[in-house]
Amino acid sequence: MSDELNYGEVYAPIYEEYTAVQGKVAEVDQTVAFLERYSSGGSALDLGIGDGRVAAPLSERGVKVEGIDNSCSMLELLAKRTDLIKAWQGDIAHFKTEQRYSLVYCVYFTFTLLVTREAQIDCLRSAAAALDDEGILVIELDVPSSDPRVGGQKTTTVRLVDHENTILNVAVHDPLTQNLVSTLLWFSGTSVRRLPQRVRYVYHQELDTMAECVGLELVERWGDWARGAFTEGSKRHISVYRRSSPSSGDLPRQKRG
Ligand SMILES: C[S@@+](CC[C@H](N)C(=O)[O-])C[C@H]1O[C@@H](n2cnc3c(N)ncnc32)[C@H](O)[C@@H]1O
Repeated sequence: MSDELNYGEVYAPIYEEYTAVQGKVAEVDQTVAFLERYSSGGSALDLGIGDGRVAAPLSERGVKVEGIDNSCSMLELLAKRTDLIKAWQGDIAHFKTEQRYSLVYCVYFTFTLLVTREAQIDCLRSAAAALDDEGILVIELDVPSSDPRVGGQKTTTVRLVDHENTILNVAVHDPLTQNLVSTLLWFSGTSVRRLPQRVRYVYHQELDTMAECVGLELVERWGDWARGAFTEGSKRHISVYRRSSPSSGDLPRQKRG
């Protein structure tokens, strides 16, 4: 599998159908209600905006949403969907905006599509710099599997089974880089689609540490968009950060005592 794998180019042709099957379309109202609380009266920046699954309904609620994506095909889907949103092609690890936003968000598992630790930290740094003084960064991430993993281990996970679809994730694990190189096998009707992807999984405490390194601090963490508690049984988290110091990029302040 190529290191140049572009998630958006692979998934754009089936993204709408895929996210619907995965329940990501059904949960959009809750996602948008959650995000709207932090953006009311202001503006928002969607990192990895995709087809506008979240950004489009958020903008329909009156939030001025902008977005970045590195996939032309995804940006074309977005443009077909709405003309309310300014979006541009770019890398969410390295971006600079003239504007400052009340809310910057990176949802679904988009953050893990940055497959090195450095790229993930760079993304947090860029996001911190894009926040206005009271700005909030929201990141949604899956909790990595707690099954013991060893190097080179190949795993097959059942992602979904219903009357019409079976989705399996066949992955190879590299513990040195926390990378999972996987192929989703989506069986539906008589077709099988093979969808490659690569992610760098990250635990919530590592995310907090990376955020602290770029001058962000955790203010809330939830287990779902309905603000359910984040517990040992949670399959994902929604983490909310704000700037911990006036200038982003500072090292975290030392705690006293
Ligand atoms: C899982 S999709 C999420 C799309 C949308 N935010 C949603 O929630 O449905 C990830 C998106 O991030 C984009 N993406 C992945 N890596 C990126 C990068 N380094 N820079 C910019 N966009 C990226 C992909 O093209 C894709 O549109």
